[in-house]
Parts: sequence; C-alpha cells; structure tokens
Amino acid sequence: MAYAINHQVVFITGASAGIGQAAARQFAATGCHLILTARRQDRLQALAQELTEEFSVQVHPATMDVSSLESIQTVLANLPEPLKKIDILVNNAGLALGVNRAQENEPDDIDTVIDVNVKGILYLTQAIVPGMVERQRGHVINISSIAGHEAYPGGSIYCGSKHAVNAISKSTRMDLVDTPVRVTAISPGLVETEFSNVRFRGDTARAKNVYKGYEPLVAEDIADAILYAATRPPHVQIADMIIFPTAQASATIVSKK
Ligand SMILES: NC(=O)c1ccc[n+]([C@@H]2O[C@H](COP(=O)([O-])OP(=O)(O)OC[C@H]3O[C@@H](n4cnc5c(N)ncnc54)[C@H](OP(=O)(O)O)[C@@H]3O)[C@@H](O)[C@H]2O)c1
Repeated sequence: MAYAINHQVVFITGASAGIGQAAARQFAATGCHLILTARRQDRLQALAQELTEEFSVQVHPATMDVSSLESIQTVLANLPEPLKKIDILVNNAGLALGVNRAQENEPDDIDTVIDVNVKGILYLTQAIVPGMVERQRGHVINISSIAGHEAYPGGSIYCGSKHAVNAISKSTRMDLVDTPVRVTAISPGLVETEFSNVRFRGDTARAKNVYKGYEPLVAEDIADAILYAATRPPHVQIADMIIFPTAQASATIVSKK
C-alpha cells in the first residue's frame, strides 16, 4: 500500500527535461516540496511556476551543474530554510554522447559523460546523505539504465558510466544498511525524451529514428516507478527496477515493425 510522502522535500537533478521533469510533476501532485535543478534555468523557472500554480507546494528552481562540486555546494548553501531538510534525492541528470567505438572516443565526451553520470551522483550523495543520516530519514533514487546491466557496441562510455551507477547504488545501500535511509536504482530501457537528441548532438532525424516502429516508454512511465519506490512504507526498500517498453527484451533486442 502507498505510504504518504506529502510535505516531504524532494531534490531532483536534471529537472529541466524528460524523466526529471515528469518526476517533478508527479511529486508535486503528491504534495511534495521540490528543489528543481539543472543547467537551463528558464525551463526550471517555467516548471516551478506551473507547479506552484497547480499545487500548493513550495518549489525552488536552482541552476546547477552536477559535474561541479562548487555549483552543488552553492545551491545547497542557498536553499530556502523550509527546504533545507531534504527527504528524497533523485539523482537523474545524465547523458550519452555519440556511439563511437571505444578506440575512437573523443576525450571531451569521456570527461563529460563520466563527470555528469558518475561523479555527479557521488558528489550529491556525499553532500546530501549525511543530513538524511542525522535526521534518520531519507531516500536516494539513482536513475541508472539497462546500459548499467548490459553492454552494447558503441556504448563504452555510457555503459561504463551506468555500470558505475549500479555499483555506486549497491555500495551506498551497504553503507547505509544500519540507517533508515533507503537506496533505489531504476534502470529504464528506451524512453522517448531529449536523450537521443543530446546523444546525436541535435540530429533530430537520427534521434527520432531510435523510437520508430514500436511504442517506446515515455518519461511519465519512469516517473511512475520513481514515485512507486518513494511511496513504499519505510521498511520496504526497492533495490532495483528494470523497465522496458513491451517491444524491448534487452539493451539490443527491440522489435521494430
Ligand atoms: N531516455 C532514455 O532512453 C533513458 C534510458 C535509460 C536511462 N536514462 C537516464 O535517465 C536520466 C534522464 O534522462 P532523460 O531521458 O530524461 O534525458 P533528457 O530529456 O535529455 O534529460 C536529461 C536531464 O539531465 C540534465 N543534465 C544534463 N547534463 C547536466 C549537468 N551537467 N548538470 C545538471 N543537469 C544536467 C538536463 O538538464 P540541462 O541540460 O538543463 O542541464 C536534463 O534535465 C539520465 O540519467 C539517463 O541516462 C534515459
């Protein structure tokens, strides 16, 4: 049965698009107060306005780059007083860049993807989880990927980064086992968001082609899973969820008609 989480404070990374944005909407509808972070402040402002008009919740939009510890520290130091005690951290910001073979990867792509997908989660965990332990309540929800469970050709950086997210999630769960703080990893398959646009650097036709010939997941499907994990009673810890569209059976097996 769902456990009430209204009035809890939720910190979401990558809230300006896709899964993070959909999760923000669902948490707001549940009555949670929100800290929305990403680099695109205009989008966060628009979302914050939409959510505060529709629901009676507090929403704090903050520009933040998860790959910069300084940027994270600045945001945390400037949180409004009522939002300082974070209950739920959704580590969602992430990206893939290209599908180069490992031997042809660009050093800049390696740095960006590892810094955002891997270091971002580690930075936020060390910055926010101590407060959760002190208050004896909290939940970390890391958005991983099927690429964290399987590898595929052209995925050396992204699959490597998401395998790291799964390892980080498991270690964090072990480190927090003697506390009430829960750790969940959610691993989606193909979700139609801006993800492929970013991966193919704005080549919209190529990005659209990823989702052609079958019905992909939408961001709301993953937001549902995030809310499911967050609304279990405190003694229930969803460790890991893999979610595919029905037409997908593995990282590389997709039935396209
Ligand atoms: N879509 C899929 O098929 C799929 C499948 C499995 C897993 N995932 C994972 O799901 C998560 C969300 O992806 P999505 O599909 O919703 O993609 P998306 O629509 O491209 O959204 C990605 C979000 O991450 C943010 N972001 C990127 N770099 C950032 C940085 N340096 N600092 C702060 N925020 C940053 C973006 O915001 P700004 O650009 O405004 O900073 C954006 O809000 C990612 O971790 C992704 O790996 C996606």
